[in-house]
Amino acid sequence: MRLRALQVISPTPYVLPMKSSSSSALLFFLGGVIVFLFLVIVLLILWKNKIPKELGNLVVRSRGRKASKDFLSGNLRTISYFDFHTLKKATKNFNPANLLGVGGFGPVYRGKLQDGTFVAVKKLSLEKSQQGESEFLAEVRMITSIQHKNLVRLLGCCSDGPQRLLVYEYMKNKSLDLIVYGKSDQYLNWNTRFQIIVGIARGLQYLHEDSPLRIVHRDIKASNILLDEKFQPRIGDFGLARFFPEDQAYLSTTFAGTLGYTAPEYAIRGELSEKADIYSFGVLVLEITSCRKNTDLTLPSEMQYLPEYAWKLYERSRIIELVDPRMREDGFIEKDVLQAMDIAFLCLQPHANLRPPMSEIVAMLTCKVEMVERPMRPAFLDRRPKKENLSWDTISEAFPSPLRSDSISLSRPTK
Ligand SMILES: Nc1ncnc2c1ncn2[C@@H]1O[C@H](COP(=O)(O)OP(=O)(O)OP(=O)(O)O)[C@@H](O)[C@H]1O
Ligand SMILES: [Mg+2]
Repeated sequence: MRLRALQVISPTPYVLPMKSSSSSALLFFLGGVIVFLFLVIVLLILWKNKIPKELGNLVVRSRGRKASKDFLSGNLRTISYFDFHTLKKATKNFNPANLLGVGGFGPVYRGKLQDGTFVAVKKLSLEKSQQGESEFLAEVRMITSIQHKNLVRLLGCCSDGPQRLLVYEYMKNKSLDLIVYGKSDQYLNWNTRFQIIVGIARGLQYLHEDSPLRIVHRDIKASNILLDEKFQPRIGDFGLARFFPEDQAYLSTTFAGTLGYTAPEYAIRGELSEKADIYSFGVLVLEITSCRKNTDLTLPSEMQYLPEYAWKLYERSRIIELVDPRMREDGFIEKDVLQAMDIAFLCLQPHANLRPPMSEIVAMLTCKVEMVERPMRPAFLDRRPKKENLSWDTISEAFPSPLRSDSISLSRPTK
């Protein structure tokens, strides 16, 4: 009986049910944690892929719902969508006092956003772009898929009715033309100039060789080189050329300036490749070292075209005379400046295939490889009026080369 009673009060039968309920609670808890973590991960992915609402609406409007899926795969989520009113406010109604400059694509204004950030707002001229909303967004997506420390960053865009605007990071030291062409009192020593040259070369190398898309800038020039607060260069307007149809009107708006950088095969025969950018880079390096414009028709005839004049001095081993005199006073490193000028001449060669690729130029500048080639006499467009031929597009033969008499073999264009 006692034994029985003992059996009755034995806790054994109750132990088992308690164990199973605590383990199922544990299982329930773990399941909850897993589901919670899963939800957090899904939310994080959705949040990362979140596109500004307005941009999404815009794409749906312009392409239909199907296209918005494709839109998700792009990089538009990395930029912001601005409404026109915000940009109008930021630029104080596009106040002329905020005008940074006017280029071939339209005016650029400095703007201040509500959070205090300064931006550069480019208002695209619609008559020229002839673009609809979808093409505009496709191009914006192209630009945002490319990122490099030597390329200007696009922060956002705006497509509102007929308005198309691009919002870039504001570059404190504006553009290189202001310094090279003496529009500002700013003086840059050789180290800073060299840093600018190497930075541009790296940006171009990325566009030509390393970016997901092979991009030819088509308009490398001093005003398209923007400088941050530390004078680190960033190439601007890359990809912008794609917003516009191929037409001569664009070239003619900034005729002298742009043509002074244009490779002859592109200007004359329309042959466009990376080599056209490399030619422009050569002109830019001469401008940076000499601190003068590529074309200055106010100078005596033999000095008007920088590549021509530079070559004339080079042949006579007097190229050092071209170096910005302020830099000479500053104790620049002659060997390095001369090497940069030698590289510029390699870029200015008449045959596009003789110009080295940007990766080689970067290696030569940073002394990773030695420069072995001897450059040929540069080719450039001579726009001086000639009695027998008043067209501007002739190859200058003003200074026959004593180094290589066979160096120019580009024929005169037939009109
Ligand atoms: N992100 C920026 N930050 C600061 N200043 C800028 C910025 N972008 C452009 N600018 C200034 O605005 C000026 C006009 O720029 P824009 O690119 O429209 O014309 P451009 O370079 O003279 O000619 P192009 O249309 O052929 O490029 C530039 O010269 C530069 O000084
Ligand atoms: Mg520009």
